[in-house]
Amino acid sequence: MKILAILYKGGNAATSEPRLLGTVENQLGIRKWLESQGHEYIVSESKEGPDSDFQKHIVDAEILITTPFHPGYLTGDLIAKAKNLKLCVTAGVGSDHIDLNSAVKHGIQVLEVSGSNVVSVAEHVMMSILLLVRNFVPAHEMIERGDWMVSDIARNAFDLEGKVVGTIGAGRIGYRVLQRLVPFDCKELLYYDYAPLPEAAAKAVNARRVEDLKDFVSQCDIVTVNCPLHEGTLGLVNAELLKHFKKGAWLVNTARGAICDKDAVAAALASGHLNGYAGDVWNVQPAPKDHVLRTAKNTLGGGNGMVPHYSGTTLDAQARYASGTKSIIENYLSGKAQEPQNIIVGVGKYESKAYGQR
Ligand code: NAI
Repeated sequence: MKILAILYKGGNAATSEPRLLGTVENQLGIRKWLESQGHEYIVSESKEGPDSDFQKHIVDAEILITTPFHPGYLTGDLIAKAKNLKLCVTAGVGSDHIDLNSAVKHGIQVLEVSGSNVVSVAEHVMMSILLLVRNFVPAHEMIERGDWMVSDIARNAFDLEGKVVGTIGAGRIGYRVLQRLVPFDCKELLYYDYAPLPEAAAKAVNARRVEDLKDFVSQCDIVTVNCPLHEGTLGLVNAELLKHFKKGAWLVNTARGAICDKDAVAAALASGHLNGYAGDVWNVQPAPKDHVLRTAKNTLGGGNGMVPHYSGTTLDAQARYASGTKSIIENYLSGKAQEPQNIIVGVGKYESKAYGQR
């Protein structure tokens, strides 16, 4: 059986740090195991265009492993050519780089290692909220420049205490963010999600559900995006919705780049309507050198907390999603049932309710 993995290149870091399991060099740690059973395991970072290893090998691979960090975009066209493909495994969480509707149509299963990096992301969200609200990045840049002018930083530095924070999506990550916000004594915690939290869970974090999105964002000082990318969330935070944000609000997006319209976000920062934008996800990855969100700034020249996509690929997370990937493949090879929470698309139908209301 041919198993194809599209992973990111780790370079020197991966040769000196074997715990970087999700790299081309370290191959999720499953090469020996797969080859000992007689399977062919192709691992590559080459994913764009007809001459890429991705497009060359997808035509006869039975299992495709991808990661959201270096997404192999499995389009409907590629799925139509992938005659042997039965199983897509996302080493991590978030399978929007796969045309899920097309996978349903062709009977290809799509599984994720659910939960594997949700704490990693929730921690990154907390860091991003704090670095924006407290104006951290310009403060650190000032220090590296050799300058010292406290008032230039303090004029746009606030406390998280007393602010209203809302999450779009209150699933595994969104809920963990709410839990982590509790000790900060925010004024209120809100959430927007078509799936209401169980009453006890909402009570435990004292979170209030707001059912209308415009109404929701208009109440938040800080909005954090924690829902999957699907037809219903593509461009959800656009110029029109941004008009309903409070002036000077902060926006954190570690979910998927394409949920927020990059140009509308950059314009809202430039006009002062948004005070900051932070996160690690980009509408195309790797992000082009001239991507507007690399350098977008608020009116004071700060407010940008963007980093490469790494919140869910800490070494702790890599250990978990590498072992989860192995167990999904093990189940597939031995005909054992998959863990229900990992199944996004089962044979011919969506199993997850998180990828839009159907
Ligand atoms: P989850 O499935 O536990 O929760 C997602 C929640 O979003 C669900 O409650 C669902 O009802 C809600 N939702 C779906 N569509 C919505 C909409 N239109 N409006 C409001 N809520 C909506 O997923 P989990 O584990 O919390 O992950 C969420 C997303 O975070 C992933 O799909 C992925 O895109 C992203 N992620 C990013 C990572 C990173 O490294 N930056 C790592 C892991 C996940």
